[in-house]
Amino acid sequence: MPNRPRLRLAPSLLSADFGALARAVRAAEDGGADALHLDVMDGHFVPNLSFGPALVAAVRARTRLPLDVHLMIEDPGRYAEAFRRAGGDTLVFHVEAKGPPAEVVRTIRRTGAAVGAALRPDTPWEAVEPIADELDQILVMSVHPGFSGQAFLPEVLPKVAQARARLDRSGHPEDVSIDGGITPATAVAAAKAGATFFVCGNSAFTGGPVAANLARLRAAVEEGARGAVR
Ligand code: DX5
Ligand code: ZN
Repeated sequence: MPNRPRLRLAPSLLSADFGALARAVRAAEDGGADALHLDVMDGHFVPNLSFGPALVAAVRARTRLPLDVHLMIEDPGRYAEAFRRAGGDTLVFHVEAKGPPAEVVRTIRRTGAAVGAALRPDTPWEAVEPIADELDQILVMSVHPGFSGQAFLPEVLPKVAQARARLDRSGHPEDVSIDGGITPATAVAAAKAGATFFVCGNSAFTGGPVAANLARLRAAVEEGARGAVR
Protein backbone atom coordinates (compact mmCIF):
# COMPACT_ATOMS: atom_id res chain seq x y z
CA MET A 1 0.00 0.00 0.00
CA PRO A 2 1.69 3.25 -1.07
CA ASN A 3 2.46 5.74 1.61
CA ARG A 4 0.35 8.86 1.04
CA PRO A 5 0.28 12.14 2.93
CA ARG A 6 -2.65 12.72 5.26
CA LEU A 7 -5.63 14.61 3.85
CA ARG A 8 -5.43 18.35 4.44
CA LEU A 9 -7.76 21.30 3.93
CA ALA A 10 -6.32 24.69 3.02
CA PRO A 11 -8.81 27.57 3.00
CA SER A 12 -7.94 30.20 0.39
CA LEU A 13 -7.94 33.70 1.83
CA LEU A 14 -8.90 35.12 -1.57
CA SER A 15 -12.51 34.33 -0.63
CA ALA A 16 -12.28 35.90 2.83
CA ASP A 17 -13.33 39.44 3.75
CA PHE A 18 -10.11 41.43 3.24
CA GLY A 19 -11.46 44.03 5.65
CA ALA A 20 -11.49 41.46 8.42
CA LEU A 21 -8.66 39.19 7.39
CA ALA A 22 -7.36 38.55 10.91
CA ARG A 23 -10.79 37.30 11.89
CA ALA A 24 -10.91 35.00 8.82
CA VAL A 25 -7.48 33.58 9.67
CA ARG A 26 -8.63 32.88 13.21
CA ALA A 27 -11.89 31.31 12.02
CA ALA A 28 -9.99 29.01 9.65
CA GLU A 29 -7.51 28.00 12.33
CA ASP A 30 -10.19 27.43 14.99
CA GLY A 31 -12.40 25.72 12.42
CA GLY A 32 -9.90 22.96 11.72
CA ALA A 33 -7.87 24.16 8.71
CA ASP A 34 -4.58 22.32 8.17
CA ALA A 35 -2.93 25.15 6.23
CA LEU A 36 -3.82 28.47 4.62
CA HIS A 37 -3.61 29.06 0.87
CA LEU A 38 -2.59 32.53 -0.30
CA ASP A 39 -3.16 33.47 -3.94
CA VAL A 40 -0.62 35.94 -5.30
CA MET A 41 -1.58 37.49 -8.67
CA ASP A 42 0.41 39.99 -10.70
CA GLY A 43 -2.04 41.10 -13.39
CA HIS A 44 0.22 39.57 -16.10
CA PHE A 45 0.28 35.84 -15.56
CA VAL A 46 -3.41 36.07 -14.69
CA PRO A 47 -5.89 38.86 -15.46
CA ASN A 48 -6.27 39.89 -11.84
CA LEU A 49 -4.26 41.45 -9.00
CA SER A 50 -4.35 40.33 -5.40
CA PHE A 51 -1.55 40.95 -2.88
CA GLY A 52 2.16 40.61 -2.23
CA PRO A 53 4.64 39.72 0.51
CA ALA A 54 3.42 42.38 2.98
CA LEU A 55 0.07 40.67 3.31
CA VAL A 56 1.69 37.24 3.61
CA ALA A 57 3.78 38.62 6.48
CA ALA A 58 0.70 40.03 8.20
CA VAL A 59 -1.00 36.63 8.01
CA ARG A 60 2.20 34.92 9.21
CA ALA A 61 2.13 37.07 12.33
CA ARG A 62 -1.39 35.87 13.17
CA THR A 63 -1.29 32.12 12.73
CA ARG A 64 0.83 29.04 13.29
CA LEU A 65 -0.74 27.24 10.33
CA PRO A 66 1.55 26.43 7.40
CA LEU A 67 1.24 29.02 4.63
CA ASP A 68 0.87 27.67 1.10
CA VAL A 69 1.71 30.54 -1.23
CA HIS A 70 0.37 30.11 -4.78
CA LEU A 71 2.41 32.33 -7.08
CA MET A 72 0.30 33.21 -10.12
CA ILE A 73 3.01 35.54 -11.34
CA GLU A 74 5.15 35.82 -14.46
CA ASP A 75 8.56 35.64 -12.76
CA PRO A 76 8.34 33.42 -9.66
CA GLY A 77 12.13 33.08 -9.29
CA ARG A 78 12.49 36.82 -8.88
CA TYR A 79 10.13 36.99 -5.90
CA ALA A 80 10.77 33.64 -4.18
CA GLU A 81 13.09 35.09 -1.55
CA ALA A 82 10.62 37.87 -0.67
CA PHE A 83 7.75 35.43 -0.15
CA ARG A 84 9.93 33.12 1.89
CA ARG A 85 11.04 36.02 4.12
CA ALA A 86 7.39 36.99 4.51
CA GLY A 87 6.75 33.57 6.03
CA GLY A 88 5.65 31.29 3.19
CA ASP A 89 6.22 27.64 4.06
CA THR A 90 5.53 26.25 0.60
CA LEU A 91 6.00 28.34 -2.53
CA VAL A 92 3.99 27.02 -5.46
CA PHE A 93 5.05 28.31 -8.89
CA HIS A 94 3.43 27.72 -12.28
CA VAL A 95 5.34 25.63 -14.80
CA GLU A 96 3.90 27.90 -17.53
CA ALA A 97 5.60 30.97 -16.02
CA LYS A 98 9.13 32.21 -16.78
CA GLY A 99 11.49 29.29 -16.25
CA PRO A 100 12.97 26.88 -16.89
CA PRO A 101 11.01 25.00 -14.21
CA ALA A 102 14.03 23.04 -12.90
CA GLU A 103 15.81 26.35 -12.31
CA VAL A 104 12.82 27.86 -10.48
CA VAL A 105 12.71 24.75 -8.26
CA ARG A 106 16.37 25.31 -7.31
CA THR A 107 15.80 29.01 -6.66
CA ILE A 108 12.87 28.30 -4.33
CA ARG A 109 14.70 25.43 -2.65
CA ARG A 110 17.61 27.77 -1.84
CA THR A 111 15.26 30.01 0.13
CA GLY A 112 14.49 27.10 2.48
CA ALA A 113 10.83 26.85 1.46
CA ALA A 114 9.11 23.66 0.36
CA VAL A 115 8.44 23.66 -3.40
CA GLY A 116 5.22 23.12 -5.31
CA ALA A 117 4.57 23.24 -9.04
CA ALA A 118 1.17 24.19 -10.43
CA LEU A 119 -0.50 23.31 -13.73
CA ARG A 120 -3.25 25.29 -15.41
CA PRO A 121 -6.25 23.18 -16.43
CA ASP A 122 -5.07 22.90 -20.04
CA THR A 123 -1.41 22.15 -19.23
CA PRO A 124 -0.65 18.44 -19.60
CA TRP A 125 0.91 16.31 -16.89
CA GLU A 126 4.03 15.92 -19.05
CA ALA A 127 4.96 19.56 -18.32
CA VAL A 128 5.74 18.69 -14.70
CA GLU A 129 6.79 15.06 -15.08
CA PRO A 130 10.55 15.75 -15.52
CA ILE A 131 10.75 17.65 -12.20
CA ALA A 132 8.25 15.54 -10.24
CA ASP A 133 10.94 14.00 -8.03
CA GLU A 134 12.16 17.44 -6.94
CA LEU A 135 8.80 18.63 -5.64
CA ASP A 136 6.95 18.60 -2.33
CA GLN A 137 3.61 19.32 -3.97
CA ILE A 138 1.98 19.15 -7.40
CA LEU A 139 -0.96 21.53 -7.68
CA VAL A 140 -3.56 20.69 -10.30
CA MET A 141 -5.76 23.68 -11.08
CA SER A 142 -9.39 22.80 -11.52
CA VAL A 143 -10.40 26.29 -12.67
CA HIS A 144 -8.61 28.82 -14.87
CA PRO A 145 -6.41 30.75 -12.46
CA GLY A 146 -7.31 34.29 -11.50
CA PHE A 147 -10.60 34.24 -9.62
CA SER A 148 -12.33 32.39 -6.82
CA GLY A 149 -15.89 31.14 -7.09
CA GLN A 150 -15.62 29.40 -10.49
CA ALA A 151 -17.05 25.98 -11.32
CA PHE A 152 -14.85 22.89 -11.00
CA LEU A 153 -13.53 21.44 -14.28
CA PRO A 154 -13.86 17.64 -14.00
CA GLU A 155 -11.64 17.08 -17.05
CA VAL A 156 -8.58 17.66 -14.82
CA LEU A 157 -9.29 14.55 -12.72
CA PRO A 158 -7.25 12.19 -14.93
CA LYS A 159 -4.27 14.52 -14.37
CA VAL A 160 -4.73 14.22 -10.60
CA ALA A 161 -4.67 10.44 -11.01
CA GLN A 162 -1.52 10.62 -13.17
CA ALA A 163 0.26 12.75 -10.57
CA ARG A 164 -0.84 10.46 -7.76
CA ALA A 165 0.27 7.33 -9.58
CA ARG A 166 3.67 8.82 -10.31
CA LEU A 167 4.24 9.97 -6.74
CA ASP A 168 3.07 6.62 -5.34
CA ARG A 169 5.58 4.85 -7.58
CA SER A 170 8.40 7.14 -6.52
CA GLY A 171 7.85 6.26 -2.88
CA HIS A 172 7.83 9.93 -1.87
CA PRO A 173 4.58 10.81 -0.11
CA GLU A 174 4.21 14.28 -1.64
CA ASP A 175 0.92 16.11 -1.90
CA VAL A 176 -1.25 16.33 -4.95
CA SER A 177 -3.14 19.54 -4.42
CA ILE A 178 -6.39 20.46 -6.14
CA ASP A 179 -7.34 24.13 -6.44
CA GLY A 180 -10.55 25.68 -7.73
CA GLY A 181 -14.25 24.99 -7.36
CA ILE A 182 -13.85 22.56 -4.48
CA THR A 183 -17.18 21.83 -2.79
CA PRO A 184 -18.18 18.74 -0.79
CA ALA A 185 -19.33 17.11 -4.06
CA THR A 186 -16.22 17.89 -6.11
CA ALA A 187 -13.95 17.12 -3.13
CA VAL A 188 -15.21 13.53 -3.13
CA ALA A 189 -14.24 13.15 -6.80
CA ALA A 190 -10.84 14.81 -6.30
CA ALA A 191 -10.01 12.63 -3.30
CA LYS A 192 -11.06 9.54 -5.25
CA ALA A 193 -8.65 10.53 -8.00
CA GLY A 194 -5.85 10.79 -5.43
CA ALA A 195 -5.69 14.42 -4.29
CA THR A 196 -4.47 14.86 -0.71
CA PHE A 197 -4.44 18.65 -0.32
CA PHE A 198 -7.66 20.56 -0.93
CA VAL A 199 -7.73 24.30 -1.50
CA CYS A 200 -11.14 25.70 -0.65
CA GLY A 201 -12.10 29.33 -1.14
CA ASN A 202 -15.79 30.02 -1.42
CA SER A 203 -16.76 26.69 0.10
CA ALA A 204 -14.78 27.56 3.25
CA PHE A 205 -15.61 31.24 3.70
CA THR A 206 -19.13 31.69 2.34
CA GLY A 207 -22.50 30.17 3.10
CA GLY A 208 -22.15 29.60 6.82
CA PRO A 209 -19.64 29.35 9.66
CA VAL A 210 -16.15 28.33 8.55
CA ALA A 211 -15.97 25.46 11.06
CA ALA A 212 -19.17 23.89 9.75
CA ASN A 213 -18.04 24.37 6.14
CA LEU A 214 -14.70 22.72 6.86
CA ALA A 215 -16.40 19.84 8.68
CA ARG A 216 -18.51 19.14 5.58
CA LEU A 217 -15.45 19.28 3.35
CA ARG A 218 -13.49 17.02 5.72
CA ALA A 219 -16.23 14.40 5.62
CA ALA A 220 -16.27 14.59 1.82
CA VAL A 221 -12.52 14.13 1.35
CA GLU A 222 -12.49 11.23 3.77
CA GLU A 223 -15.34 9.60 1.90
CA GLY A 224 -13.55 10.11 -1.43
CA ALA A 225 -10.24 8.80 -0.12
CA ARG A 226 -11.91 5.60 1.07
CA GLY A 227 -12.91 4.98 -2.54
CA ALA A 228 -9.55 6.02 -3.99
CA VAL A 229 -7.86 3.88 -6.61
CA ARG A 230 -4.60 2.40 -5.31
C1 DX5 B 1 -7.86 30.77 -8.30
C2 DX5 B 1 -7.12 30.50 -7.03
C3 DX5 B 1 -7.85 29.66 -6.07
C4 DX5 B 1 -9.14 30.25 -5.57
C5 DX5 B 1 -10.03 29.12 -5.12
O1 DX5 B 1 -7.02 31.38 -9.20
O2 DX5 B 1 -5.90 29.84 -7.30
O3 DX5 B 1 -7.02 29.30 -4.96
O4 DX5 B 1 -8.94 31.12 -4.49
O5 DX5 B 1 -11.31 29.61 -4.85
P1 DX5 B 1 -12.60 28.69 -4.98
O6 DX5 B 1 -12.39 27.52 -4.05
O7 DX5 B 1 -13.73 29.57 -4.58
O8 DX5 B 1 -12.67 28.24 -6.41
ZN1 ZN C 1 -4.78 29.11 -5.53
